[in-house]
Amino acid sequence: MKIIKVATPEEGAIKAAEIVLNQIKHKPASVLGLPTGGTPVGMYAKIAEAVKAKKADLSKITTFNLDEYYGLPKQDAQSYYTFMDVNLYTPCALRPDQTHIPSGTAPDAEAEVKAYEVAIVKAGGIDLQVLGIGGNGHIGFNEPGTDPKSRTHVVKLTQNTREANARFFNSLEEVPTEAMTMGIQTILSSKSILMLAFGANKADILFEALKGPITPQNPASFLQRHPDVTVIADQAAVTRL
Ligand code: GLP
Repeated sequence: MKIIKVATPEEGAIKAAEIVLNQIKHKPASVLGLPTGGTPVGMYAKIAEAVKAKKADLSKITTFNLDEYYGLPKQDAQSYYTFMDVNLYTPCALRPDQTHIPSGTAPDAEAEVKAYEVAIVKAGGIDLQVLGIGGNGHIGFNEPGTDPKSRTHVVKLTQNTREANARFFNSLEEVPTEAMTMGIQTILSSKSILMLAFGANKADILFEALKGPITPQNPASFLQRHPDVTVIADQAAVTRL
C-alpha cells in the first residue's frame, strides 16, 4: 500500500487527478470506478480543467459509479447521477453510453444490481477504482458488517451514514434509507485502487483501516488485502499514521 501525504485537500485533488489522467493516458479505453461525496469534488474539477484545456481525452473511457440511493429518480438534485452529471459527465462531455450508475428507480432492485455486476465484467473489469471513506469506514455504501465476498447489492443505510449525508438534503427525513452499492468483492476485484481521505474527521477511521485489524467492522480495512492500493490523505487525516 502506497500512502501519499499532501498538505491540503486542494493538493490531494491535484495528485488524484494526475493519477486518474495518467491511467487514461496509459490506457485510453480505461474502465474507471468512481465515487461521490464531498471528497472527490476537487479531483473532478481538476480532471474537467484538463479536458477543457485539451490536455486529456476521455472519449474512450467507461465509468461505473460505486453506488446510488435507492428510491431517488436520477433527475433528483440529490441523486448520485445528478452529482456525477454536474461534476464530471457534463463538464467532460462524456456520452451516456460511457457512464454507468445503478438506477435508483429500477422496479426490480435485485435484477438491477445483478445486471450492474454483469456489465462491469462485460466491460473487462475496473482498471482503477477511486474511493472515499465514510466516517464509519464504509466504502461505497458497504456499511460495517458487510460480507467481504459481497458483489453489487441493495443495502440499508445506517443511521450514522444517513446523518452524515443529511447535510446535502433539506432534512434527515429526506435521506433515503436504502441504496445500491458495488460490494466489497466488486471493489477488491479492481486492478488498482485509489482511496482519498481528507479532514480530521477521517483520521481515526483511516488509521484503523490501514493499520488496524482486517475486520467487517471497518469495511475499508479489506483494502489491506489488495496488492495495488494508493491512499492520498491530507495532513488533517494522517495525524495518527
Ligand atoms: C458517502 C458515499 C461514499 C463516500 C462517503 C464519504 O456516503 N456513499 O462513497 O466515500 O460517503 O463521503 P465524503 O467524501 O462526503 O466524506
